[in-house]
Amino acid sequence: MSSHPAATQKVTVRKLLQMKAEAEKIVCLTAYDVSFAKLLDEAGVDVVLVGDSLGMVMQGLDNTLPVTMDDMVYHSRCVANGLSRALLMVDMPFMSHITPEIALQNAGRLMKESGAQIVKLEGGSEQRDVVNALTSNGIPVCAHLGLQPQRVHKLGGYRVQGRETDVAERMLEEASVLEQAGADALLLECVPAELATKITKAVSIPVIGIGAGSDVDGQVLVLQDVLGITPGRAPKFSHNFMQGADSIQAAITQYVDDVRSNQFPTQAHIF
Ligand code: KIV
Repeated sequence: MSSHPAATQKVTVRKLLQMKAEAEKIVCLTAYDVSFAKLLDEAGVDVVLVGDSLGMVMQGLDNTLPVTMDDMVYHSRCVANGLSRALLMVDMPFMSHITPEIALQNAGRLMKESGAQIVKLEGGSEQRDVVNALTSNGIPVCAHLGLQPQRVHKLGGYRVQGRETDVAERMLEEASVLEQAGADALLLECVPAELATKITKAVSIPVIGIGAGSDVDGQVLVLQDVLGITPGRAPKFSHNFMQGADSIQAAITQYVDDVRSNQFPTQAHIF
């Protein structure tokens, strides 16, 4: 069983802020259907993310770019039906937030049609007006910095972001810009641990990391990586929690407990 102290209290955006203030690690994991959503919720996962990674792990695509708003609405609605405690975070897919007006329409759909409680969007300070428009209309936002898979073609591959001093300084600045624009949380993907720690200390909103070291406020992984069923080579920052577990439920509970007690990630998972 998970050791979470308040397993039945509904997780809210305010609760995430409180967890950061109290240095209680936030546990996040992706899900795309009701069966896994239920398992994650029962294991004490705080935030369930319907990521556009569904393009790869549900649809067999090479990247997230073709994922549509209809895909996100469909999978989020399935996941929402399985949650009673966890906060439902849903990705805004590629090109769904290119202007504040388009973003409002699409994020509004995710809130109204699929039960999203916070939306996540990739992008830096150019997203300031979008974040401001959404949050001032009552839509919580998690900004996403570092590796942004929707920019894979511009980046020339999936690589660690922020190793160079100028890129690191820009990312630190962008985190503050997005916080000031109203972002309620920040996700950092594939960022050197030292930089992620700096950003986590610089902002007052919770920072959830994936491949961003252990000194962030919470961790997220893709469910298929946790279950060791990712096709091909698993990313360095992930871990197969099915090793040593006798059921899927046990593996997920181990992930929850290891994140909560800061035993995951280890040095082996860090850039
Ligand atoms: O799409 C997704 O699942 C994500 C995670 C990798 C953070 O954005």
